[in-house]
Amino acid sequence: MNVMETKIRKIDKNKIDEKIIEEAAEILREGGLVAFPTETVYGLGADALQEEAARKTYAAKGRPSDNPLIVHIADYDDLRKIAVNIPAETDMLAAHFWPGPLTMIFEKSPIVPYGTTGGLDTVAVRMPEDPVAAALIRATGGFISAPSANTSGRPSPTTAGHVEEDLGGKIDMILDGGTVDIGLESTILDMTVSPPMILRPGAITAEMFEKVIGPVDVDETLMSPDSVQAPKAPGMKYRHYAPKARLIIVEGDLREEILAIRQLAYAAHREGRNVGIIATSETLPFYNYGIVKNVGTRENEKTIARGLYSVLREFDEECVDTIYSESFAVQGIGKAIMNRLEKAAGHMTVSAADIVRCQKYRRILFVSGTDSARGPMAAELLRNCDLKQEYVIGSVGMVVLFPEPVNQKVEAIMKSAGMSLAEHSSKPFDTEEVRDDTLILAISESVKEKLSAECGEKENIRTLNEFAGDDTDIPDPYGKPLTEYGACFEILKKLTQKAADRLNALVEDEK
Ligand code: TXA
Ligand code: MG
Repeated sequence: MNVMETKIRKIDKNKIDEKIIEEAAEILREGGLVAFPTETVYGLGADALQEEAARKTYAAKGRPSDNPLIVHIADYDDLRKIAVNIPAETDMLAAHFWPGPLTMIFEKSPIVPYGTTGGLDTVAVRMPEDPVAAALIRATGGFISAPSANTSGRPSPTTAGHVEEDLGGKIDMILDGGTVDIGLESTILDMTVSPPMILRPGAITAEMFEKVIGPVDVDETLMSPDSVQAPKAPGMKYRHYAPKARLIIVEGDLREEILAIRQLAYAAHREGRNVGIIATSETLPFYNYGIVKNVGTRENEKTIARGLYSVLREFDEECVDTIYSESFAVQGIGKAIMNRLEKAAGHMTVSAADIVRCQKYRRILFVSGTDSARGPMAAELLRNCDLKQEYVIGSVGMVVLFPEPVNQKVEAIMKSAGMSLAEHSSKPFDTEEVRDDTLILAISESVKEKLSAECGEKENIRTLNEFAGDDTDIPDPYGKPLTEYGACFEILKKLTQKAADRLNALVEDEK
């Protein structure tokens, strides 16, 4: 239904152009639709007191008309024109949190049409802080109904570009005031019950309300995946904010989450599939496979709130069938972040610990004398095996005085097998490398003895022969002709393949 031209007007909230506001307000007064910025998300505005305008709003969004709209006001006195039986605590709440990201629900007055409230006798009211929103509300006459300006079922828009993607051609105008500040929809507080009840978590939290009016209730259907009751805000029952791909939240402590997502992305890569990963500035460098997007920094959860919907929208443009997301602490705005993430995921979560438990080893280290021939060859051969799990595979030497490239004959043999060690540079062994998650494979019995002498006998220090269950001697080709290097390569190839089979069997066993 792309039938109308959608005007797009840039507007600077620090220097509001009244001519543009007047142009937009006139459209609204005549019953048209104008999307505008608020500090939470972009809203799709209509005159809240015109029944016909509400009908247009539902049509443009493709939204079920039993889902009520929020009425936006700019002056506190206007509340009394649209709501009745306003409880006493409202003044205190408004003094603290209005204008701001708070929506309160009251009994409606007769001037509010049922079209706006989805047939309910209550009305949701918010006073946004964004100066563009406030100016537009005043110029229009005081009452603008506005759901989030997205197509129903897509993430709420945090930029004018998002609004254009969804509603371009379907509405009269978009006021482009740049990227919003908060990025998640307002907290909804039902004032018709006592104590008031949070129906949707947002930037204003239960703890913040408590400081002002004492304890509030929380609609328990909000967070639990298997609640049989319908949530009290009609809109919360829909699977909103849904990305095209399947979204799965990986839950655990952060270190486990990273390891688990790495493993899931690696497993998908082996099957030739690409997955999406929702990561943070801090965790970004840990992922090697998949399409990784940075949602914000863990040092400031507000950046994550601001980035979430944008990242979900970006993934709709990517060719991925599954997105894995790290999870976030459910405190402060984290509660709203996890609420939206869980809704987008349709409450699909997996336990990071369950996935990580299947990984006995995460690193494999080959140890030889000089780390310039057999060790690096074995490491590269193992990297080229079909492994069911992702490992960090490396090599070190017991007697490395300075970094050296591999011997030229080694590189010649590797090249003829379609591999290369040109990037390799020898590294000395360090006892720090001996960790529980590391399998240490000595290239010979004498190397293993040296290791044991330094670190003690350990279950994870083995010779390659022992681990592969094959005692074929690994000859040291040093100083011998190329053919001897070739023979050594063939033996290492057989042993590393057996070691790979053994590692793959370990992964199966643990599952
Ligand atoms: O931050 C926001 O609140 C944004 C901006 C544009 O202000 N608006 C927004 O509107 O998120 P919308 O329509 O996407 O979400 C409104 C939510 C829905 O879940 C709806 O069911 C609920 O508010 N709601 C509205 N009126 C209600 C009422 N009378 N009783 C219970 N829930 C109500
Ligand atoms: Mg919405």
